[in-house]
Amino acid sequence: MSFFPVCRPRRLRKTQAVRNQVAETVLRTEDLMYPVFVVHGENIKKEINGMPGQYHYSLDRLPELINEIEKAGILSIMLFGIPAKKDRYASENYTDNGIVQKAIRLIKTLSPALVIATDVCLCAYTEDGHCGITHNGQIDNDQTLDILQKTAVSHAQSGADIVAPSGMMDGMIQAMRQGLDQNDFSDVMIMSYAVKYASAFYGPFRGACGSEPTGDRKSYQMDYRNKKEARKEARMDQEEGADFLMVKPALSYLDIIQDVVEHSTLPVAAYHVSGEYAMIKAAAGNGWVDEKAIVIESLTSIKRAGAKIILTYYALDVAQWLAET
Ligand code: PBG
Repeated sequence: MSFFPVCRPRRLRKTQAVRNQVAETVLRTEDLMYPVFVVHGENIKKEINGMPGQYHYSLDRLPELINEIEKAGILSIMLFGIPAKKDRYASENYTDNGIVQKAIRLIKTLSPALVIATDVCLCAYTEDGHCGITHNGQIDNDQTLDILQKTAVSHAQSGADIVAPSGMMDGMIQAMRQGLDQNDFSDVMIMSYAVKYASAFYGPFRGACGSEPTGDRKSYQMDYRNKKEARKEARMDQEEGADFLMVKPALSYLDIIQDVVEHSTLPVAAYHVSGEYAMIKAAAGNGWVDEKAIVIESLTSIKRAGAKIILTYYALDVAQWLAET
């Protein structure tokens, strides 16, 4: 061979030690936020259809999980509640005895340092499964804002550290920030599901919450053919006072994550959603892929795209895998 390569990138790949030292992106347990589902009732730990290994917990069974989360070194959770009854105005969302409110108070006694974020949305609480109040088949954006505001304040009163509106209503951050500030909760953070696409990847989650909408969510969640719009949504929520921005789903939207990270000054979270989880579980269950390897690779790519926080149902497994290596 006559030609001699001057540049030999393979030198830096030769040993694990060197690879570890030059790695640009390293996934850590601290990067993860774990979604937790709470339900009314007693002695319930019920596996969620389509999400093997994920459960609905009643409050009396929740301590086992919180203990596991704490031991794993996971710093934060995202709380989802399934209400006792659904109604037109999503009223369990903002009552002191709502399932989320009770869960927050309990978790704060069990693990005071665990950061609690709460999903603030109407879809699990409304009869038609929409993320807003509907009138004659149309979403009433501004009436929905009142409910989001009341819910944010109610979650804050119970001790939530972060409230996370996921309904893609215009003005939701401003409404919630105002409500929080007027009620002396200026230190409660807002994580906006700022860039949330109308996605088929939410299927298993909707089964879990009984929140399949009548029709679809395309009049409020974003069209996946659009990218510029992500920048607009992100900018708007930053201006309205969001503390974190979220992009959702994650793996099919790495370009969006990167774009939002580059064009905003806020930390960006990405949600590796239920359908993404389900696909890996199904393939791994059939022995078609190496679950651990594929999960670590997937989540590392989300971090490489620029996400600071990754919401994932795999959080507990990943914490364990990372501790083993
Ligand atoms: C509520 C909400 C959804 C998810 C998080 N918050 C469902 C939806 O918008 O239909 C999806 C999470 C997942 O799929 O894991 N609006």
